[in-house]
Amino acid sequence: MSEDLNIIQGTKEEQYQSLLPQMKGLLEGETDLIANLANVCAALKEQFNWLWIGFYLVKNDELVVGPFQGPVACTRIKKGRGVCGTSWAERKTIIVDDVEKFPGHIACSSLSKSEIVIPAFKDEEVVAVLDVDSTSLNNFDETDEKYLIEIIKLIDFN
Ligand code: SME
Repeated sequence: MSEDLNIIQGTKEEQYQSLLPQMKGLLEGETDLIANLANVCAALKEQFNWLWIGFYLVKNDELVVGPFQGPVACTRIKKGRGVCGTSWAERKTIIVDDVEKFPGHIACSSLSKSEIVIPAFKDEEVVAVLDVDSTSLNNFDETDEKYLIEIIKLIDFN
């Protein structure tokens, strides 16, 4: 497997469609969860260059920051707190067009303007969330949700 990603220009949809099979190749045959989460973040960063891309892992009834790309972030988030803790508690994707309008948003970086958080499930339980932050308002929509869910499905949360 080549570790070089083919980064393309194009619509958001085209970018995800180019990235997905490459992501599959990157994860194929590797069972180490941290390695896979790290490569997913790096690949998304390379293609989209968002401000912050990372996983928070559920540990002892808290979210603890895992592999990420971007500025340093808060380490622990309680269930129901911030966008990440709300996504975990409500077991659903949350798209925030303007972080200043989300009550209880946890600002890890003042540069973050919009955000998407997607829960990852194993045996019906939320085991992690994928959090992506952008420096632009209104950056994320259903296309991001659809493809980021596809990407999360490639990961074996063993
Ligand atoms: N904004 C998130 C906190 C995590 S950072 O953005 C990396 C939240 O409100 O849960």
